[in-house]
Amino acid sequence: MTNSIKVTNPATGELIQEVKVNSEDEIKQALKNGHESFKSWSKINAHERSRLIDAWSQKIKENKEELAHIMTLENGKPLKEALGEVDYSASYLDWYAEEGKRVYGRTIPAHTESKRIIVTQQPVGLVAAITPWNFPGAMMARKAAPALAAGCTFIIKPAAETPLTAIKLIELAHEAGIPEHVIQYVNGSGKQIGELFTESEYVRKITFTGSTPVGKTLIQDSASTIKHVSMELGGHAPLIIAEDADLDFAAKQTIATKFRNAGQTCVCANRILVHESIVDAFTEKFVAEAEKLKVGNGLDSETDIGPIINEKGFDKIVSQINNAIEKGAQVLVGNKFDVDKEKGYFFIHPTVLKNVTAEMDIMHEETFGPVAPITSFKTIEEAVEIANSTPYGLAAYFFTNNYQTGTYLHENLDFGIVGWNDGAPSAAHAPFGGMKESGLGREGGLEGIEPYLETKYLSIGNL
Ligand code: SIN
Repeated sequence: MTNSIKVTNPATGELIQEVKVNSEDEIKQALKNGHESFKSWSKINAHERSRLIDAWSQKIKENKEELAHIMTLENGKPLKEALGEVDYSASYLDWYAEEGKRVYGRTIPAHTESKRIIVTQQPVGLVAAITPWNFPGAMMARKAAPALAAGCTFIIKPAAETPLTAIKLIELAHEAGIPEHVIQYVNGSGKQIGELFTESEYVRKITFTGSTPVGKTLIQDSASTIKHVSMELGGHAPLIIAEDADLDFAAKQTIATKFRNAGQTCVCANRILVHESIVDAFTEKFVAEAEKLKVGNGLDSETDIGPIINEKGFDKIVSQINNAIEKGAQVLVGNKFDVDKEKGYFFIHPTVLKNVTAEMDIMHEETFGPVAPITSFKTIEEAVEIANSTPYGLAAYFFTNNYQTGTYLHENLDFGIVGWNDGAPSAAHAPFGGMKESGLGREGGLEGIEPYLETKYLSIGNL
């Protein structure tokens, strides 16, 4: 194919498939088609839309093994995590198939007998989504499900590294009976498609999951046509272990949040803050758990940690490790790599760093890799100060069985998602999203359908 994206397996560097790059004219035509089909899709009643979304979910469940296989091939994540992601994706469809039936309006008591005041909700229009490579199924489902349920049409530009999952999901949506132009994909350069999406008069909403700098550009570019925007951006999650925490439980949960998807999630614990009185005991348990993790090709059922997505991601992680070591951090396990730059694969073994300090890059930048930096604190107030000293505000975790400490942490951490004795808080029925430079809006839960709706106020007079 002349103009194509080469999708490769990050575990081997091998070519999986070439995907056609859409021309500017094709993308513009797809936007026009999405806009035109909005007229009919938004008029279909919510129960029928729900039935179609439900049929799509059934197709996903029937094709679970194939979808998971595609995800592992293009993203590298262990097959067991990919199977979990297929279920997680379907759970968004299941939730919003129901929520779409509950888009209620309201009547407001009028200030005079001759008037009635009525508020209704209507879909915003064509939604354009840009999704990341780290969850190629779930991040699409989290956007497409509420959009379609609300009555919007949907177009997606999946990440260039992982377009195959989105293509398969859309094939299944069409097989389930969702009309061709109601849900569509386009492929090509992120910059070009981002510009076409934001400039287009047909697109009424941009929804993006990805880095904070790209999110800022999309917000700026959306200003010219005043589009709705939802942004799920970077994170730099603190994980606090209080003096009284159950250390065995905390160590296992910290492993789960830190090493999911080889540390390549926005909600991964990025800074592990442990009370000074238990830092050695916790670290010992945590290292023992980290040593059990198997690194390898995600298709191998034994694998816990797959590859890093690409060389750029690998270089950033290695530079953070080196910077920390230069500034005095001690490596307790890991700092080992299986790399073949020519073939194009990059594996990093789970790495635990001790004696990490505020001067190190890893304490300021998102890592997106399997590296766990541990530092200690003296008081819970100090832990909160360290935790909040970042422009990011996506997820935070803490472990304590003391309700006063827990309440204090919950109330004072400036993060949109908080896990209290819980390293895996994400769920389709709960709001996911960040404060500060981690984003705008929420996905999932009751909140997740609101960004796809406009409020219309009707005042009837002369009664
Ligand atoms: C993300 O990393 O952005 C998504 C993770 C999740 O949904 O739990």
